[in-house]
Amino acid sequence: MAKSRLASIRWTLLLSLVILLGCLVVPGLTVKHENFKKCSQSGFCKRNRAFADDVSAKGSSWSSPYELDPSSIEFKDGKLQGTILKTVSANEKVRLPLVVSFLESGVARVVIDEEKRLKGDIEIRHNSRARKERYNEAEKWALVGGLELSKSASLNPDTETGFTKVLYGPDKKFQAVIHHAPFNVEFQMDGHTHVQFNNKGYMNMEHWRPKVDGDTEEDQSTWWEETFGGNTDSKPRGPESVGLDITFPGYAHVFGIPEHADALSLRETRGGSGNHEEPYRMHNSDVFEYELNSPMTLYGSIPFMQAHRKDSTVGVFWLNAAETWVDIVKSTASANPLSLGVGGKTTTQSHWFSESGQIDVFVFLGPTPQDISKTYGELTGYTQLPQHFAIAYHQCRWNYVTDEDVKEVDVKFDRYQIPYDVIWLDIEYLDDRQYFTWDPLTFPNPKGMEEQLDASDRKLVVIIDPHIKDKDGYWVVKEMLNKDLATKNKDGEVYEGWCWPGASHWVDCFNPEAIKWWTSLFKYDRFKGTLPNVFIWNDMNEPSVFNGPETTMPKDNLHYGNWEHRDIHNVHGITLVNATYDALLERKKGEIRRPFILTRSYYAGAQRMSAMWTGDNQATWEHLAISLPMVLNNGISGFPFAGADVGGFFHNPSKELLTRWYQAGIWYPFFRAHAHIDTRRREPYLISDPYRAIISQAIRLRYQLLPAWYTAFHEASVNGTPIVRPQYYVHPSDEQGFAIDDQLYLGATGLLTKPVVSEGATTADVYIADGEKYYDYFDYTIYQAQKVPLLMQGGHIIPRKDRPRRSSGLMKWDPFTLVITLDKNGEAEGTLYVDDGETFDYQRGAYIHRRFHFQASTLSSEDLGTKGPKTAEYLKTMAGVRVEKMIVIDPPKEWQEKKSATVIEEGTRTASTVSVEYFSQTGGKAPYVVVKNPNVGIGKTWKIEF
Ligand code: GLC
Repeated sequence: MAKSRLASIRWTLLLSLVILLGCLVVPGLTVKHENFKKCSQSGFCKRNRAFADDVSAKGSSWSSPYELDPSSIEFKDGKLQGTILKTVSANEKVRLPLVVSFLESGVARVVIDEEKRLKGDIEIRHNSRARKERYNEAEKWALVGGLELSKSASLNPDTETGFTKVLYGPDKKFQAVIHHAPFNVEFQMDGHTHVQFNNKGYMNMEHWRPKVDGDTEEDQSTWWEETFGGNTDSKPRGPESVGLDITFPGYAHVFGIPEHADALSLRETRGGSGNHEEPYRMHNSDVFEYELNSPMTLYGSIPFMQAHRKDSTVGVFWLNAAETWVDIVKSTASANPLSLGVGGKTTTQSHWFSESGQIDVFVFLGPTPQDISKTYGELTGYTQLPQHFAIAYHQCRWNYVTDEDVKEVDVKFDRYQIPYDVIWLDIEYLDDRQYFTWDPLTFPNPKGMEEQLDASDRKLVVIIDPHIKDKDGYWVVKEMLNKDLATKNKDGEVYEGWCWPGASHWVDCFNPEAIKWWTSLFKYDRFKGTLPNVFIWNDMNEPSVFNGPETTMPKDNLHYGNWEHRDIHNVHGITLVNATYDALLERKKGEIRRPFILTRSYYAGAQRMSAMWTGDNQATWEHLAISLPMVLNNGISGFPFAGADVGGFFHNPSKELLTRWYQAGIWYPFFRAHAHIDTRRREPYLISDPYRAIISQAIRLRYQLLPAWYTAFHEASVNGTPIVRPQYYVHPSDEQGFAIDDQLYLGATGLLTKPVVSEGATTADVYIADGEKYYDYFDYTIYQAQKVPLLMQGGHIIPRKDRPRRSSGLMKWDPFTLVITLDKNGEAEGTLYVDDGETFDYQRGAYIHRRFHFQASTLSSEDLGTKGPKTAEYLKTMAGVRVEKMIVIDPPKEWQEKKSATVIEEGTRTASTVSVEYFSQTGGKAPYVVVKNPNVGIGKTWKIEF
């Protein structure tokens, strides 16, 4: 990785302007720590950490009190069942039912529950109506499939006493080795252990017990009641946390468990230089002015972790919807023969604990990152294929103040020839903050506004939050209360808290009747003033409650089915999104469209229904920089439709920062500019040149590459691969690259970018992992182990649309350009996916899926699709869409004299000839050949022989 200059004159100029402006920029503010719990202020976090410390201190003199009763074990049809006994005292053992499922996909699932609670054999304090069972419905929200049990998994007959061994997975390459006493499990692949449960002995299941008054030996100060920031949690079931240590022997890197504003490769959390002091926390929260490089919780959580080492990726998914913390510690074993094959290597040990619920963990043995994406997606669902407009540019701010304002912004984008697809309305469009209404003074004619947008195939997104204003005469709150669909407090009365509208109630989307009602609200005759080009933003769904504990709901609130809020907190956000998704599917009978919803809060499974953004960031360079690992991390955690507020939400960015942010933001799968109400207007046409020109070019680059983006979204929607990919994912053998999180690849296109995220930078280093040639995207300069911000790896065929338009909808029938970058062997390959970008007809074959291949001087297009009832009709609509240009970069020398190539297209009898022009270049730039108007159909099979 060498360093060289790539500054253009333009950027040097830019720099001097920025130095003058720099002093006007307001420094970033930081979070109010006192509003959020540290581990030591959370009873169960403190207890589980103390337990781990105690176990570590006792060393070999201590043994975990959990044993699997051998007489209870049964194995049948891919499922092992038994009872774990927890020894509490000489005469008390608590029975914990265990189910280990071996799934057809090669994933193993371990579930541990508590028998007394399953049977309802406990007492609950304070006459609470809370359920007695441990929460077991997280899967109802998170999982959609992949649970078929393996037919081939079998007990390994060659097993010593004290163990049960199950062979499973593809070709039975995997084995679960279950030690009975103390209970612990090793998950092995090819004879080596890759994941271990409870080998440190931190497993902890706080069983139910009655509250006994008077002195006890144990410290019960956090068992029965907890107060934080003036709010008291009544904890009607007492202590009930679950904890487990999960070790990845020989794995130095772990990724995942979003959402945190931190590096992609997770840090250690037990202190020490460069490490965190606090565990990574997952407790969806509206964190005002969040801090960076921190394990603090944010708005969403996906308790899915991947561990990676050279040529092997494994993972775990901790299916629990309650507040969860994860400690991470790494150790490097000495290189001695006793260290079980991992000598000299770093091992990562993670310790997970949740406040309530079951232990329910899935284990993925890879061995590739793609295997993990695929099997995790089989369980939680793949990214929905969004409508095409949703992957283009979104213009938002808090707020466009009138319908005329929106129309003017729309006109200005056209005047300055900057493409955009979607304009957004934040909470000020509402009449008195009442959702499903419009302010009659400022938005008297919403339909007129929507019609103007529709004329350029543009869309409107409006915000709808889950808090419903408590106001006499407001029809929505009246209906919700009459139908009894609101969340209740601990006493079973309708819960009231504060949010944007003032006193509010919260719709309880756990209730099927509430989902039905919510769905009805979006019909065009109920949400008056909306047309089919209106879509929805669900915000504040953690839920954010301004006067609640840690800005959310009390944990002893009750939801449908009498589940405590404690149990379900982290899935709360997606229950709202789920209801909104249902609503948008069919707003008018027969008009079925792919919904578009942006959510702030999320959990595993949100990818099926929505896009996310990283919430209220700040207009600072540091926030720009952290957005890259955050977006990448979401991508490998199964929720790749992710982005950050371009420009930064709080404060005013300098012109340089705003410009750099657009240049980075075009690489977010979800690309939206947004700004706080107190900031100055910053629509890209307002900024002076050269910034305006640079930003316009960046946005146009996004539009040019939309065919490649849509193809990457399609891949995510069928196999779970991230839309933008980090270094380790693309080069899993290159250890140097594992921790790199500031450069990214677009899908499988070989496009590699390194956004500039520091002030005044005039050079950028791009890390190149392989010996392949890399070409500058713009001028085809060849790099080998050098650096520029956008490179094309040799060996790819990149589909583009080169005609600038006002919106992506207007590009629908435009011809394609194919860019062919030859690899060291003179070959290249790429794919393209196209459909109507709007309906679900693609599920019935209405799409084009092609593989382009260049080999032996022939470029060919082959069909990758499978046909359905709608294929023929769709292909007919696309018959006129053709390839207008091909650029072959770095062609064989002999092509210098080439003047023509032969085109053979299916369905045409004779071959035709097309003219070819060779361009030689100097100064390290690759020569290239342009094929002008080959005129082959994008949906056709064809060949071009050079
Ligand atoms: C929240 C959102 C932000 C939005 C604001 C007003 O802070 O995160 O994006 O602009 O609420 O609705």
